[in-house]
Amino acid sequence: MKKISHAPAPEPRGLSAPRPHPAALWQGLPNAIVTAAAVMAAAACGGSAGEGEAASPAASQAALIEQGKQIFRFETFGDEAQWTDTLKMNEVIGSAVDPVTALSVGLKVDAEALPAEVVAGIKNETIDLKSPATTVTLLKLNAVVGVKGTVETVNGVDKLTRVGITCALCHSTVDNSFAPGIGKRLDGWANRDLNPGAIIALSPAIDAAMKKVFNAWGTGKFDPRHNIDGISKPVVIPPAYGLAGIHRITFTGDGEDIAYWNRYVAVAEMGGLGSVSEPRLNLSITHGTEDLVTSKLPALQAYQLSLSAPPAPAGSFDGAAAMRGKLVFEGAGKCVTCHSGAAFTDANSRLHPPGDSMAEPETPSYASRSATKQYRTTPLKGVWQHAPYFHDGSAATLTDVVKTYNTRLTLGLSSQEITDLVEYLKSL
Ligand code: HEC
Ligand code: HEC
Repeated sequence: MKKISHAPAPEPRGLSAPRPHPAALWQGLPNAIVTAAAVMAAAACGGSAGEGEAASPAASQAALIEQGKQIFRFETFGDEAQWTDTLKMNEVIGSAVDPVTALSVGLKVDAEALPAEVVAGIKNETIDLKSPATTVTLLKLNAVVGVKGTVETVNGVDKLTRVGITCALCHSTVDNSFAPGIGKRLDGWANRDLNPGAIIALSPAIDAAMKKVFNAWGTGKFDPRHNIDGISKPVVIPPAYGLAGIHRITFTGDGEDIAYWNRYVAVAEMGGLGSVSEPRLNLSITHGTEDLVTSKLPALQAYQLSLSAPPAPAGSFDGAAAMRGKLVFEGAGKCVTCHSGAAFTDANSRLHPPGDSMAEPETPSYASRSATKQYRTTPLKGVWQHAPYFHDGSAATLTDVVKTYNTRLTLGLSSQEITDLVEYLKSL
């Protein structure tokens, strides 16, 4: 078994053993979630939710989803152990990463977390977006999507003492309503502007050779298996929406539910405190001595299942062509033989050999690095939203996708059928 163990982090994380009651686990979180957690805990313990009346199933579900939303956006699972204690990202962010630089590597700012005076200051340019101190201010306001900072004020100066990451770093973006990179959160949308490799390469704890490896990953991509098998071949960051009813998660269908993969990512990739084991990959990882992951998985999964794929914007496709394209999808294109059902995937009944991916053959095959060694047919709801396509991003547009299928599977589609099929894909 490959075993990776890290010593417990030197500083207390606010959540200490022993655990008296499930509700106490949430003591580090904002009030709204504490309330939600208390409702859930009361329900789980068979107690009542308040004045003698138990929460209705719908209310409990809503509370669970709200709790999951807070976890998705703000929970680091104690991964400051990796991002602060090991990678020392707080030092480089606090001293060298001004907001302009942060936006340039794809980090997003939640405009709704900005108080009026900060909004005004950005508008009239009295707030300096070329100063790392401004980044620290934004982190203090909890306004940098997916990055959680602890800021301490010493002698009137704000200092970033700890930093960690959350799921929202890669799986949320913003609507750019205030400025490019600054707007309202769009949870579940893949951040295809994010350059995780370039961000990790900023760490002062990484040597030049490794910086080169991370810098080669590119925008919108991450390799979630690099630190396991040492291979560097990233995949595109996929959306975390539109997964309800799909019981095969990840490009390779490694898990039957989202929670499987969330545990893997939280521990193995983000560096959260807890354990993950995957016998098919001969993998067993434990970080720290306490488990800050397991208790959060049900709520986190409930939130993602509540995120539906965004509908195609009005006017973004030709309706008549899309109707013709549907016939191509189901007929001459043979797409429906794999992209079947409401979610446009046969994932619940089968996975596919590597050769069924139009991104293959590649060396090494991404499938070969996974637990299943196969590919899942990618669900297509919201596919208009997240170019480039295929796990390696090798198809830049939906036209490229269709042309690739047409050539590789010798479908013999006419150029009219190709255009119609593309319009249909844009409508899903
Ligand atoms: C550093 C970027 C990054 C972070 C942080 C991250 N992910 Fe991901 N996520 C990825 C990549 C890349 C994949 C694709 C891996 C694959 O399918 O093999 C992925 C896959 C997924 C999938 C599978 C989607 C599908 O179509 O089956 C889900 C769900 C998901 N992530 C949720 C989460 C959650 C929840 C968290 C926080 C616990 C998280 N991710 C943290 C990059 C990230
Ligand atoms: C034999 C099964 C099969 C057939 C037939 C098939 N697909 Fe796929 N499709 C897949 C698999 C598997 C993937 C994932 C490939 C990857 O990511 O490497 C995929 C991926 C895609 C993607 C990329 C989605 C994304 O988010 O990256 C699109 C778009 C797509 N297919 C459209 C089509 C169209 C259009 C047709 C018909 C011309 C078609 N597919 C026929 C199995 C199939």
